[in-house]
Formats: sequence, C-alpha cells, structure tokens
Amino acid sequence: MGALEGAGCVGSIAQQLRLRLDRLRLRAGELAEPALARLAGRRLALCLVAVLTLLFVVAGGLSPRVALLGLAGAVAFAAFWRKGDSAASAAATAAAQAGVDARRLWRMVIDAVPDPAVALDPAGRLVHANHLAEDLFGTRRVGGHMASMSRDPDLLAAVEEALASRQRQTVELHGRVPVERRLLATMVPLGHAAGLLHDAPALLITFRDLTEQDRLARMRADFVANASHELRTPLAYLKGSVETLQGSARDDPAAREVFLRTMGEQAERMSRLVDDLLSLSRVEMREYLPPSGEVDLATVLSDVVQTLEPMAQRADIALTLHSKEQTALVRGDYDELAQVFQNLVQNAIKYGHSGGKVEVRLGREPAGKPGRWRIDVADDGPGIAAQHLPRLTERFYRVNVAASREKGGTGLGLAIVKHILNRHRGELTIASTLGQGSTFSVLLPEAPV
Ligand SMILES: Nc1ncnc2c1ncn2[C@@H]1O[C@H](COP(=O)(O)OP(=O)(O)OP(=O)(O)O)[C@@H](O)[C@H]1O
Ligand SMILES: [Mg+2]
Repeated sequence: MGALEGAGCVGSIAQQLRLRLDRLRLRAGELAEPALARLAGRRLALCLVAVLTLLFVVAGGLSPRVALLGLAGAVAFAAFWRKGDSAASAAATAAAQAGVDARRLWRMVIDAVPDPAVALDPAGRLVHANHLAEDLFGTRRVGGHMASMSRDPDLLAAVEEALASRQRQTVELHGRVPVERRLLATMVPLGHAAGLLHDAPALLITFRDLTEQDRLARMRADFVANASHELRTPLAYLKGSVETLQGSARDDPAAREVFLRTMGEQAERMSRLVDDLLSLSRVEMREYLPPSGEVDLATVLSDVVQTLEPMAQRADIALTLHSKEQTALVRGDYDELAQVFQNLVQNAIKYGHSGGKVEVRLGREPAGKPGRWRIDVADDGPGIAAQHLPRLTERFYRVNVAASREKGGTGLGLAIVKHILNRHRGELTIASTLGQGSTFSVLLPEAPV
C-alpha cells in the first residue's frame, strides 16, 4: 500500500515536472523565434565579422579564445539588438511575433472552452489540452500521440478519419473506471489554421459528459414507473371489487359492505397519491423562488400539534410541544412549513411506538444564540437502520413498503419536505438508533430584523 502510494506520488511529481518543462519549452520557443528571425536578417554582417575575426587570428596573432568570445558577443548582439533592424528582418520579426500572438490566442480559446478540449497536429500529436481535458485524461506531454491520452479504439479511429477526410466526426465513449460514464467526443478539423503556423492545431476534439443527463433521464423514467405502479395497485383493486360486486357478491349484503369499505380506502389512497404528486411538482417548480412572507414557527408548530392531536390519541401516543420561544420568525410560506412539520409529526406517530411519546421541540441552533431555529421531532419508535437514512428523502423510498402502504403512506412525504426546506434555505438531519427511536431535525435561518 505504502509502496503504491509512493509510486503514485513520484508519478504525479514527474507529471508536474514534465508539464513545467513543456511550458518552459513553449516560453523558450516564443523568445527564440524573433531572435532567430533577427539573426537571419543580419547573417551577411555576421559572416563579415566571422571572416575578419579569422583574419585577425591567422595574420594578426589574435588568441583564438578571445576571437571566439568576440564572435559569440557579435552573435548575441545580432540576435537581441532590436534597433536598426533592416526592413526584411523587421518584417520577419513582426511575422514571428504575430505567430507567437496567434499561438497564444488559440491556446487561450481552447482554455476557455467550457468542456474538456484537446488540439492535435496533423499527425495526431497533442499540441494543447485545456485543464478540463487534463482532469479527464491526466496531464499529458505536448507532442505525445493521442493514443497516450486514450486507448479507446473508436476514438482513435475517429481521430484518424477526421484528420484524413477533414470531416467532422462524433463518437460515443463508454468508460467504467473509476465510475461509469458516457462521453460524446466531437472532432472538428481546423482546415484553415493548419497553413498559418508550423505547429497550428489541425483538429479540435471536445468531450461532453452525458452521464448527468443519463442520470436525470433514468430518474424521470423511474419516477413515472413508480407513480404509475402506485396508482395501478389501488386501481386494479377497485376494478376487481366492482366485478365481484356485479357478480358473486351481488346478493351478499355482508360481503358488499366489506368491499365498499375497502374500495373507499383504496380511492382515498389514490387521491392522496395524486395530491402528493401535485404538491411535489408545485414545490419543485417554486424551489428557486425564495419565499417573501414572514412566518412564526411557534404558531406553525402549535397549529400542527393541535391538528394531529386526535391522530396521536388514536395511536395512544403522547404528543407534546416544548418551546422556550414565544415567537420564532423565519422568511417563509405558512402552508409549506406546516406541510413539513405535519409530515414529520405524522411519520413519528405512524412509525412510532404505540403507547409511547412524540416530542416536538423548538429552540435556537447553536443553543441560545441568534442565527438558526432548530425544530426536533423525536419519537421512541423502533428506529431506522443506518443504511436507509441517506435515502429517506428520495421519492417513493420506504423502509418497509408494505408497512408504509398499510399506514396510508405514499413515500413522497420526505421528498416534499426536502424540496420545501431547500426553498427556505433550510436543512433536514435525521438521527436514529434501532430500538430507541428517531429524531428528525429541521434547521431554518432566522428572519432578518
Ligand atoms: N419517525 C420515523 N420512524 C421510522 N421510520 C420512519 C419515520 N419517518 C419516516 N420513516 C420511514 O421513511 C419512509 C419515508 O417517509 P415519507 O414521509 O417520505 O413517506 P410515507 O410516510 O411512507 O408516505 P407519505 O408521507 O407520503 O404519506 C417511511 O415509509 C418510513 O419507512
Ligand atoms: Mg410521511
């Protein structure tokens, strides 16, 4: 393990060094080009200096070392002395400078592409990659072949095809490591740029990550499948009951009574599901609009506790509200916040322990200091196993589907709670110990005064 980590560390240092070296080489290239152009422009004068130096060495007894030193000085002078450039060398210097500027410009454009982007030369070698591409493929050496970035055969074939045919190509890439993902690579040949500079990019490849899009599509499909399944079950029951009432149970008043009661319950369940679906879509639509009203949480909680008192009594549960605050103001929507606490208290009663207690507590978080309100809804029921906790706010997620259905649950309550709290810039935390009970805590920012 240690050796592996060490190797990884050395690898990443080597990669960083290579990157720096590439950048240094680029910078040196940018400096060298105008100097070479100036040398080319002054080559006649340099030849003359060389001949004269040779003459002084041969006929005048000048030491070769001094002569070499003088010659080196002359070359450096000719390379870097800007004044007195001839028209030709000035033009060459300007052209070289324009090349440097153009190179800098197209690199900046590639860096600004919001997706991973890679530029290749006509031989399929890397000329530039933006940071997102480096994140995707790791840092790669300029001049290395595309195959050193990805070995995907479809991608490499498409690169070759795009370079040979000068036609745009798209290819889908499927990766499984380290996570499953789908990428769409688009290759666009840069026909005109290739002739401008000797290392101009010939092909631009951009990669679009379709994984998130796929995840959303899957979520939508799952949601429709779940919603229709939830509706189909009571509907099938209603249809079956109607057939029975028309047939075998037609003249059986006792059976009719039982069927009609259950049909009423199933119809009730369907209408609850439709209400919850509508409620969910309404809160989702408004999630990004912060509420403008002001609501007193102390009032909301006492209203909710009062409304649910009969339900608690039926379940033989002692429901109590503990609040040290007379008023607890938040920016919010009364109906939505009431829906949040109604669901939490209802859950505590439904899934709590008959003969037990449910406590609703209102206080400050951190205790005693202004900032956020904290509302705890605590029960002493059987609790929830840790592996379920992160998934409880998913739509239709239920710890025990049959038990929840039997209690009239649709599994949408906590999903609605999460969206309402998002809109209110609030938070939901869940703590539970098996056999001891659960506490659902809501944190809401205090309304500014
Ligand atoms: N206090 C609690 N104790 C134990 N389990 C709970 C508690 N609150 C919620 N759960 C579990 O979380 C699941 C999801 O709750 P949620 O409120 O989203 O749905 P529901 O109560 O089943 O249906 P709905 O609220 O739409 O009527 C429940 O089915 C239940 O399994
Ligand atoms: Mg619920």
